[in-house]
Amino acid sequence: MIASTAEAGARHVPVLLDEVIASLAIRPGEVHVDGTFGAGGYSRAILASGAGRVIAFDRDPDAIAEGAALVEASGGRLTLVHRCFSEMDAALAEQGIEAVDGVVLDIGVSSMQLDRADRGFSFQADGPLDMRMAQSGMTAAEFLNEADEEEIADVLYTLGEEPRSRRVARAIVAARPITRTGELAAIVRKALGYRQGDKKDPATRTFQAIRIHLNSELDELGEGLDAAERVLGEGGRLSVVTFHSIEDRIVKRFLRERSGSTPSGSRHRPDAGQGSRAPSFTAAAKPARAGEAELARNPRARSATLRTARRTAAAPWSPAVKGVRP
Ligand SMILES: C[S@@+](CC[C@H](N)C(=O)[O-])C[C@H]1O[C@@H](n2cnc3c(N)ncnc32)[C@H](O)[C@@H]1O
Repeated sequence: MIASTAEAGARHVPVLLDEVIASLAIRPGEVHVDGTFGAGGYSRAILASGAGRVIAFDRDPDAIAEGAALVEASGGRLTLVHRCFSEMDAALAEQGIEAVDGVVLDIGVSSMQLDRADRGFSFQADGPLDMRMAQSGMTAAEFLNEADEEEIADVLYTLGEEPRSRRVARAIVAARPITRTGELAAIVRKALGYRQGDKKDPATRTFQAIRIHLNSELDELGEGLDAAERVLGEGGRLSVVTFHSIEDRIVKRFLRERSGSTPSGSRHRPDAGQGSRAPSFTAAAKPARAGEAELARNPRARSATLRTARRTAAAPWSPAVKGVRP
């Protein structure tokens, strides 16, 4: 039996769960995509709300392996796919699914990833400098020990919004080779003059930036939104939860553009021709944020923003992936 929403996610507390489920407006028998399975908190609740089928993605092999019990309990209604959500249309086509009724994305790392020191995501517990969600590709240690100072500074500035990125990059390069998260955190704190008891640990921004860079998270988000546009049928619901302003801006701009609400003369898409294209999404609902009760239960929800919109019948603006759709 599928557990109720109240029991969902013993290890990772799902963020904005009630708001996400309400925004998906699930009707019995519908097909939904959970692009970021994690501990399965959303998938479990979507199934409990009556969806006929959930196709859930995660790039982390541990998340997929740990979801086996939920797949078993779902009686064939939950399918787990070990792929990036940017590839959801290719994966759905392989399953013979042409269109879905809802897509949800919960961007970022899970508590399991953060809490396991050996995954190297946390500056609070010492572990190897890894930070790879998919457990393949370049590690954080390889990046920090091989990249030049300017590239490191650019990553910290653009993806961590670290105002003193050059100073931190210089300190990292001077301390190489670095192999542990504890070493990196100490280097950043020393470079920025952190004192025990300061409100925010300055290592937060550096760790965020390196993680987003290594996992190409912003590209994934942009491509995932495009893929969702292609797989959602008319009336399909898109719900996206983000934790950083950089990611939220991407979602906000995407929905503004695709709903035809981008102010004319956008400098980002000067020739997007908003006037000539039919909106592929309805105007986005107001963003939702966690209320006091949720914040008391789950401080992680503090920076979460949920944006939602509905697919129209118009053709997708994003080009089809070769060999997937006509
Ligand atoms: C914040 S957690 C999701 C938690 C989930 N909503 C729950 O309630 O348990 C994000 C998960 O998405 C996965 N992930 C992040 N980016 C991904 C991508 N581009 N494709 C597939 N999975 C991704 C991460 O590995 C992680 O397990």
